[in-house]
Amino acid sequence: MPYPEELRLLVEDELERLTFSEEPGTARLVEAMRYSLLAGGKRIRPVLALATARAIGRDERDMLPLATGIELIHTYSLIHDDLPAMDDDDMRRGRPTAHRAFGEDVAILAGDALYAEAFKHILTHQRGEPRPILNAMVELATATGVEGMVGGQYMDVAGQGQDADELRRLHELKTGRLIAASVECVLLINGMTRPETSDFCEFAAELGVLFQIVDDILDVTGTDAALGKPQGSDERHGKRTYVSEFGLEGARELAARSHRQARASLLAAAPDGAPALEQITDFIATRTS
Ligand code: IPE
Ligand code: IPE
Ligand code: MG
Ligand code: MG
Ligand code: MG
Repeated sequence: MPYPEELRLLVEDELERLTFSEEPGTARLVEAMRYSLLAGGKRIRPVLALATARAIGRDERDMLPLATGIELIHTYSLIHDDLPAMDDDDMRRGRPTAHRAFGEDVAILAGDALYAEAFKHILTHQRGEPRPILNAMVELATATGVEGMVGGQYMDVAGQGQDADELRRLHELKTGRLIAASVECVLLINGMTRPETSDFCEFAAELGVLFQIVDDILDVTGTDAALGKPQGSDERHGKRTYVSEFGLEGARELAARSHRQARASLLAAAPDGAPALEQITDFIATRTS
């Protein structure tokens, strides 16, 4: 499936350049942050942000600080998600997880630091009018706090998701909100608000849920090598997922439905076409890693 590779390379280049601190006493902490960050993730969230910039006629480079910050936040969430008290996984992005490589204490701090450094990076480097940037930062903090990713992670560890509605809600918060924010923050920085952004927001929310349905499927059907993380982690931990609730075929059918819905919302948002966003949407639906 084609992927906007040139946008991924822009992100990769920017991430490589981040240094965080010259302080000798924290060199190993920075090493742990860079270890997890530069392990070659798919960069879906920052690429989505840059593709959204393109779709609204902005130069994608304008949104690089935002996109980079979002990837820092995502990487923090992966480090903490893998911890022994959470999913207790040993592999991530094809390498030993941060706590395996650096110890639990350093891994926790690396995650904490990435979260703070994300906001520092965006607030220092993102160009634009102050009010729209603040609006975007409120959205990003909300999407990653109790009403977003961390709230969803809580529902996950608390064993919620007992019926279809609860499971969709869990997915919306745990994964959907940050993916949606990757689109919405670009619109906000561009000074756009609802109702102008409503179709894009609908697209972004559906894309987020689609992403996690496919993640649940791949946890069952993927391989460690292709995923770069342990297959079967959800079942080992008795997680409620789209596969545990609806079976593999049921989950695939729901993913297909969600994919169609996301494409329809995208068409409404960008009637003249948005090739990079279309590519990412199809990639998310059909990915194998
Ligand atoms: C994995 O995200 C964690 C989930 C939210 C399901 P990705 O599949 O985007 O992971 P990377 O960034 O490519 O490693
Ligand atoms: C984690 O979901 C979502 C995050 C907020 C990190 P998963 O636990 O399913 O992610 P993977 O499968 O370990 O990447
Ligand atoms: Mg998890
Ligand atoms: Mg996990
Ligand atoms: Mg998973």
